[in-house]
Amino acid sequence: MARRGPVGVGFIGTGMISNTYLENLTRFPDIDVVVLGDLNVEVAKAQAAKYRVPQWGTADDVLNHPGVEMVVNLTIPAVHAEVAGKAIAAGKHVWSEKPISVDRQSGRDLLAQADAAGLLIGVAPDTVLGPGVQSARRAIARGDIGEPLSAQTVMQYIGPDTFHPSPEFLFAKGAGPLFDMGPYYVTTLVHVFGSVQSVAAVGSKGRTTRTIRAGDRIGTTFEVEVPTHVAALAKFVDGGISQSVFSFDSPLTRMGVVEVTGTEGTLIIPDPNTFTGDVKITRAPAIEAISDPAVWESIPVTGEYAERGLGVLDLARAARTGGRPLASGELGYHVLDTLVAIDTALTEDRVVPVDSRVERVPLVAEDFDPFQRTL
Ligand SMILES: NC(=O)c1ccc[n+]([C@@H]2O[C@H](COP(=O)([O-])OP(=O)(O)OC[C@H]3O[C@@H](n4cnc5c(N)ncnc54)[C@H](O)[C@@H]3O)[C@@H](O)[C@H]2O)c1
Repeated sequence: MARRGPVGVGFIGTGMISNTYLENLTRFPDIDVVVLGDLNVEVAKAQAAKYRVPQWGTADDVLNHPGVEMVVNLTIPAVHAEVAGKAIAAGKHVWSEKPISVDRQSGRDLLAQADAAGLLIGVAPDTVLGPGVQSARRAIARGDIGEPLSAQTVMQYIGPDTFHPSPEFLFAKGAGPLFDMGPYYVTTLVHVFGSVQSVAAVGSKGRTTRTIRAGDRIGTTFEVEVPTHVAALAKFVDGGISQSVFSFDSPLTRMGVVEVTGTEGTLIIPDPNTFTGDVKITRAPAIEAISDPAVWESIPVTGEYAERGLGVLDLARAARTGGRPLASGELGYHVLDTLVAIDTALTEDRVVPVDSRVERVPLVAEDFDPFQRTL
């Protein structure tokens, strides 16, 4: 008989981002956080005390815990696939922070392993499941901007070495602005246009070393392994094109810019690294008003607001009810495939096809309520 009651969840990796996950998942009635694990057991112990999680320990303590049905993998990108693979081997569903892995092969292997085991994988970001992006998508689905034709996204600032106490991984293979922030923007574009067909890109590295500017190791210098400014073009299988900037090299901060232009209007989607925000639309002006400032109209933002953990909850409910998660492993893989293709395009100076395909991601039900008990 299927299990009933909240889904037992264990965390592997309890660093910086675990705070927001723990704040939320400990409030969702369909989730029961039973154990936290980290390479650094003291960190897991401190987070367990802070969020009243009854047990803590190592990754193995999480994998061997009989009450854990699903592992929330919040380790660093370089070990995402390895940790997720161990969790699947232990018979657990997996939610993974983005990206699903740092190379295509391990991403594909993971999906195949989960499939064979009859287990589900979900991949961040789940920001796109929040009322902001979802209300914008509903406006597009209603035809508010006509046929979507193109999009522009911008994420540029001076970089996470300014605030993260251990920022090295964010400048290493598997991260950089493309792999670290790209998932929010590319996932949003895939929600709007569907699968990516091909990409082109240029990139550069503003500095070869960076210096930590926050936390205990302030002043420590480290090597930059990846491009820190990337400009990418994408073409979508079902039509539509996009242009995107991902940069850790810009003294000028401009973040969360996502504009989708259709035959009838341009829509502003809120920052896809957040769960909500203003959704605005401007329509083509009359010919005599062509030089006037754009007239913006607000689109109502609807849906229950919660933060990181929405995707974990959706995955947990899907695991119990036999459904498919919205932030699926297949979507996470297609986004990774696109990011790797952009990386290849900028390294090899050519247009690169994207081979994988993902089904159109359904809209979140407007009455989706994370605070309701359903299991
Ligand atoms: N920090 C943010 O603002 C942020 C936001 C969104 C997503 N993320 C993503 O979340 C993930 C974690 O980021 P973070 O900022 O929390 O990093 P972090 O360095 O603060 O924490 C990572 C934790 O994972 C642990 N860890 C690493 N390898 C492990 C292993 N093999 N087994 C067990 N524990 C292991 C480390 O000891 C550390 O405590 C990354 O994928 C990142 O892209 C971070």
